[in-house]
Amino acid sequence: MTKPYRTSITHHVDGKPHVYGYDLTKLAGNKSFTAVIYLILKGEMPDKNSEKMLDGMLTIAIDHGVEPSSTVAARNVYSGGSPLQAAVAAGVLAFGEYHGGAIEESMNTFKKYESEGAKKLNEDFKKKGKRVSGFGHRVYSTDPRTERLIELAKELGFYGKYVKFALEVEKELTVGSKKLPLNIDGIFAALLLEMGFHPKSGKGFFIIARVPGLVAHVVEESLREKPVRRLTEKEVEYDGPRPRK
Ligand SMILES: CC(C)(COP(=O)(O)OP(=O)(O)OC[C@H]1O[C@@H](n2cnc3c(N)ncnc32)[C@H](O)[C@@H]1OP(=O)(O)O)[C@@H](O)C(=O)NCCC(=O)NCCS
Repeated sequence: MTKPYRTSITHHVDGKPHVYGYDLTKLAGNKSFTAVIYLILKGEMPDKNSEKMLDGMLTIAIDHGVEPSSTVAARNVYSGGSPLQAAVAAGVLAFGEYHGGAIEESMNTFKKYESEGAKKLNEDFKKKGKRVSGFGHRVYSTDPRTERLIELAKELGFYGKYVKFALEVEKELTVGSKKLPLNIDGIFAALLLEMGFHPKSGKGFFIIARVPGLVAHVVEESLREKPVRRLTEKEVEYDGPRPRK
């Protein structure tokens, strides 16, 4: 008889939880959290270089200041009186196609166009008037996080066809005179493909990396700020109707 749930991830053997066949009580103290994240999302243990590459990615994305929409969302939800878990979840909900949620789409695009070339990708997206996921940044003209991850990729053997293709796309993409840098989502996408992850897991890596940052912001909000964040009228431009009779 088929049971209602199926999983190949975790089950108990002799009363101990095993992930993909590895006893968690033995992994604890012997393997890094990064290695076990790799295991749970790929089904196999990383080699040394894969672990170091993924560790670099998770580290570099852990926080990006109070400014991003997800951090503002998390802090504002907490300031309204909701508990930590709701505030952190609100931050995660703010990861969308423009911020932190572009990795899956970017992986699919790289997979589709890697053989057709960067020019074709650019032409197709321009024709459709679509933004290319993984490129552009509000603040950076070159993303220093991307630069560091590329350095690591070269050192650790992940400077492969997808990273090279992402850099070709970066050269092609301009809006007017503005260049669109390969951003953190884009380099995550290329590196995850180099490591053989499925695009469906893409967004998950950003969530995993950023949740510690969101927790830190919510804790800071709780310890240092008064409840109820509120904009002042000076910060708001009203452009609706004047008083009416
Ligand atoms: C990240 C992002 C929101 C930053 O935007 P920004 O630098 O403030 O640019 P704007 O939203 O003001 O857009 C300015 C112009 O550049 C275009 N543009 C921005 N990013 C683009 C992209 N990735 N592909 C194609 N065109 C893009 C916009 O369509 C707009 O064109 P228009 O003036 O003809 O309407 C934007 O680059 C984007 O949407 N990137 C794709 C999603 C992504 O990778 N998100 C992860 C970010 S880490």
